[in-house]
Amino acid sequence: MKLVDIIAGARPNFIKVSPIIRSLKEKQKLGNSNLRFRLIHTGQHYDKKMSNDFFKQLGIPNPNINFNVGSGSQADQTSAIMIAYEKLLLKKPSDLCLVVGDVNSTLACSISAKKLSIPVAHVEAGLRSGDLTMPEEINRILTDAITDFFFTTSSYANENLIRSGVPSKNIFFVGNTMIDTLKENLDKLIEPKIFKTLNKKKYLVLTLHRPSNVDNSANLKNILKELSQAAEGLEILFPVHPRTAKILNKINFHPKNVKFLDPLSYLEFIFIVKNSSAVITDSGGITEETTYLKIPCLTLRDSTERPETIVVGTNKLLGRNPNKLKFYLKKIIEGKWKKGKIPQKWDGKTSKRIVDIIEKKLQ
Ligand code: UD1
Repeated sequence: MKLVDIIAGARPNFIKVSPIIRSLKEKQKLGNSNLRFRLIHTGQHYDKKMSNDFFKQLGIPNPNINFNVGSGSQADQTSAIMIAYEKLLLKKPSDLCLVVGDVNSTLACSISAKKLSIPVAHVEAGLRSGDLTMPEEINRILTDAITDFFFTTSSYANENLIRSGVPSKNIFFVGNTMIDTLKENLDKLIEPKIFKTLNKKKYLVLTLHRPSNVDNSANLKNILKELSQAAEGLEILFPVHPRTAKILNKINFHPKNVKFLDPLSYLEFIFIVKNSSAVITDSGGITEETTYLKIPCLTLRDSTERPETIVVGTNKLLGRNPNKLKFYLKKIIEGKWKKGKIPQKWDGKTSKRIVDIIEKKLQ
């Protein structure tokens, strides 16, 4: 038997590991699997609403180990996770470290594993925004520099990896595990309480958590001001990330048509996205979910590591200046938005492909 460590630290990780764990368990049930797994929660996200609720709703088993590292500076958080994981591996080594996405936990665990000669599998490898001011871009590049098995979501990611010298035999274009989770849960969505209090059936969803948008209070206030004016009379549902909440508390700015909410659970969040007129966001994962759901999406960033959401999907990159919102929201509300298609292999079967490949590679 081979032991696979599955690393999860932050909210988007939980969504990505859930179907991989399910696929592993299904194989084990059939009795023909050589894989065991150990689920490791780094504790990067720790609030009930950012962590436990996701485990419950997505049927993720309790972690075997929780490092409980909590918040800190980039270096504090990354090093605390590296140290905790190295200690664990020295006591109880594994045969593979599987990391997902681009958060600090992803990079930290990859480094600790690789330095102990434990191979690394990276799910969502090869994404590149080209923007080195984002901690995630640094995490992506460094993780991929020491990855052994690259699982990709798009042909763009494959090309990025090939360009950086990764041999094509190590790249596996498998699709998107976030979409596995989305497909699996579409008939289980939950209407949040706030929904009953909306004046109209049409509304917008807003999410913001990138340091470049929220850490500077003037920027954040400007986005809210521009959006509330550009919303064409629609209400805006805004589930607020803890990082953003800290700044909002300081600026105390509450436009009438913005409903500030605590972070929503997965099933509630997808419910409001699926029924919305459009989503305004600075998240990467949400641009994939809106593409799959064919909901118009406006991204308040200068770059994206997920070009397929623009070329194939419903996403449009607006840059960080929110003054373009009015023009594009008008188009959306007038029904003049591109319909979008679902990218190749975003078919709900990605996790099964990943597990099959890992099984072969670890034989
Ligand atoms: C992290 C990821 C980002 C991902 C996002 C999803 C990195 C570099 N960033 O950003 O890629 O899109 O998660 O949410 O890994 N906090 C709480 N409770 C929590 C978690 C965080 O209050 O459960 C607060 C902390 O005070 C912390 C701040 O939110 O300082 C930011 O958390 P952190 O994990 O550092 O980064 P995120 O902005 O969440």
